[in-house]
Amino acid sequence: MNDSALSRFLARLQSSFEDETFVKLTLGHPAAASPLRKLLLRPVTVRGERRCCVVSRFLTRDETKNPTFSEAFTLVEARLGSEFQSAHLFTQTEDVQLEIGAKSRLRIVPAAREPAPLGHDRERVRWVDVQARYLKELEVTDTRGKVRERMGAKFRQIERFVDLLASAYRESRLFGSGKPLTLCDMGSGKGYLTMAAYDYFQRVEKAPIHGTGVEERADLATLCNRVAQQCGFDQLQFVCSPIAKYSLPPLDILVALHACNTATDDALFAGIRAGAQILLAAPCCHKEARPQLDRVQAAGPLADLLRHGLFAERQSEMATDALRALLLEREGYKVRITEFVAAEHTAKNVMLIATKRGEPLAAEAVADLDARIAHLKTFYGIQHQRLEQLLVDGRELERTPAVAGAVSRV
Ligand SMILES: C[S@@+](CC[C@H](N)C(=O)[O-])C[C@H]1O[C@@H](n2cnc3c(N)ncnc32)[C@H](O)[C@@H]1O
Repeated sequence: MNDSALSRFLARLQSSFEDETFVKLTLGHPAAASPLRKLLLRPVTVRGERRCCVVSRFLTRDETKNPTFSEAFTLVEARLGSEFQSAHLFTQTEDVQLEIGAKSRLRIVPAAREPAPLGHDRERVRWVDVQARYLKELEVTDTRGKVRERMGAKFRQIERFVDLLASAYRESRLFGSGKPLTLCDMGSGKGYLTMAAYDYFQRVEKAPIHGTGVEERADLATLCNRVAQQCGFDQLQFVCSPIAKYSLPPLDILVALHACNTATDDALFAGIRAGAQILLAAPCCHKEARPQLDRVQAAGPLADLLRHGLFAERQSEMATDALRALLLEREGYKVRITEFVAAEHTAKNVMLIATKRGEPLAAEAVADLDARIAHLKTFYGIQHQRLEQLLVDGRELERTPAVAGAVSRV
C-alpha cells in the first residue's frame, strides 16, 4: 500500500479539524468481514461544545456518537486502510478523495464552501417537531401537540422519512454547499412528508429551500396550499398535475413516496432529467411486472414459487425495484435500498435512496450495468419496464435534438 497517500490524507484531515474548515468525511469500501457499511463524520454542537458527530452505518441501522475531534481522528486513523479502503473529505477549501489499493490514489480538488452548518444535539432540535403547526393542521397531532391515537403510524413514518432524507442530504454534495435547495415531492397526497421535509431544511439545517408538491387530486393540492400558507411556508407550493405531465425545472432533491405503479418511474425519470442529486422513492403497487413474470416463468426454475400469488407479487416487487436500482446506477447514482417503516405497519415499506456520484461512470461500468440489467430482465421474463423505456427514449431524443421539443411523454 502507498502509505504516503494515506498519511497525506490524514494530515489534511487533521489540519481541517484544527483550523475548523472541516465540513464532512465519509469512509467507505468496507472490508468484507466488517459489519459496518460506512462511517460518516461531521461537526456538531453538543451542549454548546464543538464535537465530531460519528455515524456508524450498519446494514439495517445507524449508531451515532459525538466524540472529541482528537478521539475522532484516532478512530479514523485506526480504521482507514484496515476496515475501510476509501475516504472522501470535504473541507471549506478542498475535496480530498483517497482510494487505498495496490496503487493508492489521492485526489485533491479545490473548493469554496461555507462553514458546515453545525448539526445539533438531537435532543434539543428535533428533526420532526411534534408541536409544529402543519402537523396540527393536517390532524396528525391534536391542539395540544399530542400525536392523535389513529395517527401514530403516520407520525412514525414522517420521522423515519426525515431521518432517511437527512442522512442522504448530509452524505451528498448538497450538504455544506451553501446554495439554496430545490425539492419536489411527486404524488404528494396530503403533504405530510413534503411539509416535514420543508420544515426540516428550513428549521434544522437553516438551508434556504424552495419546495413543490405535485398531486393529481385538485382537492389535496388546494388543501396543502392552504396549510402551507397558514404555516408561513412561503416557498412551498402544491401543483395539481399528473406526474408525467409536470415539467420539472432543475432540481436538487426528488421525493416520490407511494406514487402508484409506474408513477414512481415517471417521477424518478423526471428527477434524473432535472439533475437531482438525491432521489428518494418508496414504490407502491408493482402492476407492470407482475403479469410479465407469469408468462415466462411458468415452466422455469421459479415455477413452484410463482404459482403462489403472494410470492409472485413479492418477486415482481423485488425484480422491479432491483431493476430500478440498476437503472439509477447506470445514470450515475449510488443506490441503497432500505426498509422505510417496519413491515407490520404497511406492506409498502421499501425505500430507494439514490445520491448522485461526483464522477461520471466509465464506459466499462456502463457496459457492465447494461449486461446486468439485460440478465435480470431475461431471468424474470420482463420485456417492458417503464423507467428503462423512458431512459432509452430519452437517450434517443438526445441523439435527435431536432425533434426533441416536439415529443411529449405520457
Ligand atoms: C398513497 S398516496 C401517498 C401520498 C404521500 N406521498 C405519502 O406517502 O404520504 C399517493 C398519492 O399520489 C397521487 N398520485 C398517484 N399517481 C399520481 C400521478 N400519476 N400523478 C400525480 N399524482 C399521483 C395520488 O392522488 C395520491 O394522493
